[in-house]
Amino acid sequence: MRAQEPTNQPATQLQIHSASSAMAHQLALLVLLLASPAAMHAAAGACASEKFPAERTYATCEDLPQLGAALHWTYDASKSSLSVAFVAAPAGTSGWVAWGLNPTGEGMAGTQALVALKGSSSAPNVKTYNITGYVPLGGASTPIAFPATDLAADEGSGGKIRLYGKLQLHKGMKSVNQVWQVGSSVTGGAPDKHAFGASNLASKAKLVLGSKATATSPASEPTPAPMAGGPSPTAGGAGSDSGASSSVAPSAGKNAATAAGVSAPALAVMALVGFLAIV
Ligand SMILES: *[C@@H]1O[C@H](CO)[C@@H](O)[C@H](O)[C@H]1NC(C)=O
Repeated sequence: MRAQEPTNQPATQLQIHSASSAMAHQLALLVLLLASPAAMHAAAGACASEKFPAERTYATCEDLPQLGAALHWTYDASKSSLSVAFVAAPAGTSGWVAWGLNPTGEGMAGTQALVALKGSSSAPNVKTYNITGYVPLGGASTPIAFPATDLAADEGSGGKIRLYGKLQLHKGMKSVNQVWQVGSSVTGGAPDKHAFGASNLASKAKLVLGSKATATSPASEPTPAPMAGGPSPTAGGAGSDSGASSSVAPSAGKNAATAAGVSAPALAVMALVGFLAIV
């Protein structure tokens, strides 16, 4: 009995080791299997399932962080030309959707907007507006800083409006603020005021022309301080869109989207590394 003890112990340890190794192996495989579809979904994004008419193709699509909107775009750097398709559901069946670039600020004021108005007409009508602030817009387009061509709109699935256009940007533009919005009604060919919910006020983000990957820079990491003591991202009340109080919202929204977009593939990579380490 006594003589067996020394030989027994290593054998037991080996069994325990191999059992736990097999368990870790299975666990890693499970994590990998669970993470993969999620990672693929996050990488492709919901916008990737949009089916446009055959002649409309875009190099990039991006699910925007608010209002269920998406932007599809192709940037031709040699011509500084940006082709876009903006997709969003209006806030009402005879409402409007808008998207634009703001070269001078973050909020609505200064936005060079493309607006697709459904109104009572069957097909959405596209107009351009140089948005100067919270002043009612007229029924006629106003000139915008980026000459717009190929303006058109059609209806997508689920009552969404798809707004198409091509903007002549300024030479050398690399990153620009984008702003989008949805409204519920149209009067006299003009978009009526939109709602002032948290997502209406936070519907802005950076559009990085060039590679999409550069949008997730370490500089955009959320800092814990504003959460603890500063204004919360949802604290901006009605009418504070252009004020300092709402300047927290866009970065917070972008960070949330960035985190959501990055975490699933990162998880898959981690699982894969773990899996390889065990094998
Ligand atoms: C847009 O409006 C602003 C403010 O009135 C004005 O300074 C700017 O020149 C306008 N832009 C265009 C392209 O008309």
